[in-house]
Amino acid sequence: MLTPLNLKEKFMQKPSEFEASRNCSHFTSASFLSKAGKRTPVLQRVSTVGQESGSADTSRDVHGWVMKLFTDEGNLDWVFNNTPVFFIRDPIKFPSMNRSHKRNPQTHPPTLTCFHVGNPEGIHQLMILFTDRSTPESVRHMNAYSGHTYKFTKADGSFNYAKIHLKTRQGIRNFSCEEAIKVSVWGQTDFENYCMIQDMFEAIEREDYPKWDVFVQLMSPDEAEGYEWNIFDMTKVGHTKTFLCKKSISFGSSKFTFLGLTEQPQNYFSDIEQAAFSPSTMVPGFAASADPVLQARLFAYPDAARYRLGVDYQQLPTNSAKSEVYCPFQRDGLMRFDGNYGGDPNYVSSSLQPTKFYQDVKGLSAAQLSPHTDHEKRAGKVLAYTSEITDKVFVQPRALWEVIGREPVHQNRLIDNLVSTVKDVKYPELRKAVYDLFSRVDKELGSKLQKRTAEAIKA
Ligand code: HEM
Repeated sequence: MLTPLNLKEKFMQKPSEFEASRNCSHFTSASFLSKAGKRTPVLQRVSTVGQESGSADTSRDVHGWVMKLFTDEGNLDWVFNNTPVFFIRDPIKFPSMNRSHKRNPQTHPPTLTCFHVGNPEGIHQLMILFTDRSTPESVRHMNAYSGHTYKFTKADGSFNYAKIHLKTRQGIRNFSCEEAIKVSVWGQTDFENYCMIQDMFEAIEREDYPKWDVFVQLMSPDEAEGYEWNIFDMTKVGHTKTFLCKKSISFGSSKFTFLGLTEQPQNYFSDIEQAAFSPSTMVPGFAASADPVLQARLFAYPDAARYRLGVDYQQLPTNSAKSEVYCPFQRDGLMRFDGNYGGDPNYVSSSLQPTKFYQDVKGLSAAQLSPHTDHEKRAGKVLAYTSEITDKVFVQPRALWEVIGREPVHQNRLIDNLVSTVKDVKYPELRKAVYDLFSRVDKELGSKLQKRTAEAIKA
């Protein structure tokens, strides 16, 4: 039995294919995007966060979305979520944030309300969590987002900041809270996980292959300088309607590829459970930005994989690159089965066995492969250890409140979903703090939440 995934403990997946719809060399030197029609095998896994292994995957939750692209220049992992924002912008809070969604060490039910009242910078993500968007009907009917700003780089040393959005061609479909509970109750369906894993499995079996269009939103470093939101702050959506509407800025969103899922895993354990993903698994042409949360993630995932799967997890067939990768310093370890680099020296740049690095082969400099700007250094520095709460924090959640108001009774459902959690909060002063927090998003939201929670407690 493997140690379960450390943070996301429920998963579904498919190995399949990623196809570049067009040549993208005007914004990246990444080889897998260099030609229209170029195909790259991909392994995908979708997960929930708060639930234990074996729980219903229809539980209200943020859903993780990872893809391992086996490119001809090594592996690229995209470790995304089905929401475009996140709960925190200071990575030091991550273990607390994550634990608050798990079982309380004494009483068992999670006490996330308490964490989020103390850390209101995540109100945007919290609101999404309590909308229907957090009970998707199926993997086939959800979108995925990089959330973080990444960089697409070019061999001439230039780059653009980038956010990636995967949009389902099957259309978004969500359950209401009641529907999600109903389908996850034993006995009501064949098996509690019917809805998401089985739905996808059956669609692929009947050759109704699900597809996603992949969009990239690009922003030049100069544009990032003057942008109204800090692009390294993942509690905000950047690059959305507001930004696109600014005609004076040459910024655009364009579809550049699509993902088509056509295959099933042959064995869940070897193909899926043994898979390990990390935002630090990257290929030339794609790079991390200064977002401090992303920077922390670059180290966290390989640590988790070594703990969960062992030091040679990258040798496992489901993880190993399909193109040649030479890392003779990564050797030994339990159950090494690939020859262990034979008699090669255990370092690179040996004078007896000279190593050619990627930049030597391609005739590039390190600066070309890893461009930085002053803006990035400044913004990255300013952002760390910052949990500042200003009125700006509530601007985008308020916009979300208005957007869901366009769907019949979705605002009401959001309130009901909140009530079902807040009514169980033991301390009146904490409940009051929740009403105050949501009143900062919208006064009516706060007052309705207060009224209905009081009624639910009395009932
Ligand atoms: C400081 C912030 C974060 C840290 C330290 C962190 C760390 C981790 C760790 C250690 C795992 C378990 C990996 C394993 O057991 O193999 C994990 C899983 C995951 N995280 Fe994060 N995470 C952070 C933020 C995020 C954000 C912002 C996103 C999405 C944009 C995200 C998406 C995921 C996904 C999708 C998984 C499941 C991965 C899989 O299926 O292999 N995480 N995270």
